[in-house]
Amino acid sequence: MKFIVTKNYEEMSKAGADIIIEQIKSKSSSVLGLATGGTPVGMYKHLVEAYNKGLDFSKIVTFNLDEYVGLKPDNPQSYRYYMDKNLFNNVNINKDNIHIPSGISGNIDKECEEYDESISKMGGIDLQVLGIGRNGHIGFNEPGDTLKVKTHVAKLSQNTIKANSRFFNKIEDVPTSAVTMGLGSIMKSKKILLLASGSSKAQAIAKIAEPIIDLKVPASLLQLHPNVVVILDEGAASMLNLK
Ligand code: GLP
Repeated sequence: MKFIVTKNYEEMSKAGADIIIEQIKSKSSSVLGLATGGTPVGMYKHLVEAYNKGLDFSKIVTFNLDEYVGLKPDNPQSYRYYMDKNLFNNVNINKDNIHIPSGISGNIDKECEEYDESISKMGGIDLQVLGIGRNGHIGFNEPGDTLKVKTHVAKLSQNTIKANSRFFNKIEDVPTSAVTMGLGSIMKSKKILLLASGSSKAQAIAKIAEPIIDLKVPASLLQLHPNVVVILDEGAASMLNLK
C-alpha cells in the first residue's frame, strides 16, 4: 500500500485525477470502477477539465460501486444522478458503457448476479476508485463479523446513515440499504486508488496502515492487494504512523 500525503483537498483531488488520466492515456478502453460521496467531487472536476483539453472517454467502461435501494435514477440523492452530474454528462462517455447498480430493480438478487457477470465479461476492473467511510467501510461493505465477496444488498450502519445524512433534507430520508459491489470485485481490480480527506477519516486511515486485517475496518483488507495507492490530505493523514 502506497500512501501519498498532499497538503489539502485540492491537491488530493488533482493527484487522484492524474492517476486516472494516466490510466486512460495508457489504455483508452480502460474499465474504471467509480465511487461517489463528497470526496471524489474535486477529482471528477479535474477529469472533466482533462476532457475539455482533449482526453477521450469514448471507449471507457465504468462500473460504479453502489446505489441506494429505493432511489430512482432521477432522484438527486441517487448515485446515478451524482455520476451524471459530476462526470458522465460532461465527458464523451458512451452511455452504453456506464454501469451502476439499480436501486429499484424488481429482482435485486438477479441484478446483483448480473452485475458481477458483466464486470467479469469486461475483463475485470483496471482501476478502482474508492472513498472510505468514517468507520472504514468501502462501497457499502460495512464493518461486521463477515464480509461479502459478491455484489449484494447491504444494510447501512447507523454510523453511515448519520454520516450520509448531510446530503439529505433529514436523516429519515436516508435509505437504510444499498446495492454494493462486494470485496471480491474490488480486490480483483488490477489497481486501486483510495482517496480520503479531512480529520473525520483520520482514524480509519490510521487503522488501514496497521498490518492487521480487521473485519471491523473493511478497508484494512486492501493491505492484501498488491497495487493500492492511498491519497490523503493532511487532515486524513493526521493520525497516520508510517514506519
Ligand atoms: C458512502 C459511499 C462510499 C463512500 C463513503 C464516504 O457511504 N458508499 O463509497 O466512500 O460514503 O463518503 P464521503 O466521501 O462523502 O465521505
